[in-house]
Amino acid sequence: MVSKNLESAINKQINAEFWSAYLYLSMSAHFANKGMQGFANWFKVQFQEEQGHASKFMDYLISKGNKVELMPIDKVQTSWDSLLAAYQDTLKHEKVVTGLINNLVKIAREENDYATEYMLQWFVNEQVEEEETAQGIIDSLELIGDNGFGIYTMDKEIGQRVFTPIASAEN
Ligand code: FEO
Repeated sequence: MVSKNLESAINKQINAEFWSAYLYLSMSAHFANKGMQGFANWFKVQFQEEQGHASKFMDYLISKGNKVELMPIDKVQTSWDSLLAAYQDTLKHEKVVTGLINNLVKIAREENDYATEYMLQWFVNEQVEEEETAQGIIDSLELIGDNGFGIYTMDKEIGQRVFTPIASAEN
């Protein structure tokens, strides 16, 4: 079992992951309404990934014989002024999540809970990727500016993103 302290912190993280999922689903709906189906798809995949993160934490608590406690998900923003604003919010949010994951690692270390620290390493790596991806898209959007053809082309490209579930070997 993990300690009550870690159990509570991981349950809060599960809620944060579902909140992230909700945020990206809201972005997906917003851009679908604006006719940008590619970006809507990208955010829909992001929504699915976040659900996967929540599930991974849930599976871990269950495997350790701990209690999963699902809590209410707070309201999220429902519209953005531009794609750039949405991806800037994405990067800002992912940096917050990185901080939350780092804090979990800190607690696990303080408690000499090596199994939890090892499990968290997957999330540490994932956050590097999440921030890098968001930053890369921001860079592209800044290059494109308000060039309609550029946005149209990027919408087609980014729409190719496909959801890949977390590999069981990595669980
Ligand atoms: Fe679950 Fe985007 O971090």
